[in-house]
Amino acid sequence: MNDLDALAPLREFVRGMTRLVERTDDEAALLAGARPLLAALIADDRWLPADCAQPDPKFYRQYLLHCDPLERFSVVSFVWGPGQKTPVHDHTVWGLVGVLRGAERCRRYERGADGKLRPAGEEQVLEPGAIEAVSPTVGDIHTVANALADRPSVSIHVYGANIGAVRRHVFDAGTGAAKDFVSGYSAATVPNLWDRSAAVRAAAA
Ligand SMILES: [Fe+2]
Repeated sequence: MNDLDALAPLREFVRGMTRLVERTDDEAALLAGARPLLAALIADDRWLPADCAQPDPKFYRQYLLHCDPLERFSVVSFVWGPGQKTPVHDHTVWGLVGVLRGAERCRRYERGADGKLRPAGEEQVLEPGAIEAVSPTVGDIHTVANALADRPSVSIHVYGANIGAVRRHVFDAGTGAAKDFVSGYSAATVPNLWDRSAAVRAAAA
C-alpha cells in the first residue's frame, strides 16, 4: 500500500464500479462484474480509515464510504462489535458483502407458503476475503452477525442503490411480519477520496 495515497484502493474500486454501472443495469452482470472488484478491495484491509471502523458499544454501525452521484451504487463499511447482529432484513436491491476483518455469521431465510420465514440452508461463517451476494433474485432476506465474541468484525458492502436511503424491511422471524425501515448511515461525512496532493507532490520532487 502507498502511504501517500492510502485511499487509492477505494478510489480504484469506485472507478471500477462507475464504469460497470455505465456499461449495464442487468443485475446478474452487475453482481458478476462487481465481485472481482470487491475481492481486490478486501484483499488488503489497510486502506479503511479508522473513523469508518469504529464499533459502537450497543449497535452495529454502517459508514458510507461512497455514493454514486446518480445513486446507482453505494459502498459501505459495516462494523460489528462483539456479539452484535442484524435483525432479519431485506435489501430490495442487489448487494455484495465482503468480509474485511474478523468473521461474520450469515443466515438466509425464505418465505414458506404459510407466509412464515424459515432458515434456508446452513448458516455460513465468512472469513476475510469471502463474498456473499444478496438480491430479490438470488435471495434477499438474511441476518448477519459478528462471529467473534471478543473483537469487532468489519465488512465492505456494495449495493445497487444509495442503500441508507432505501425503504426496505425488517421481519419478525417467528410470524414473518414485515416492518418498513430506512437504515441511514452512522456518520455525516465520507472519506475524502480526492486529496491526491501528497502523491502528486512526491512525484514532482
Ligand atoms: Fe444485509
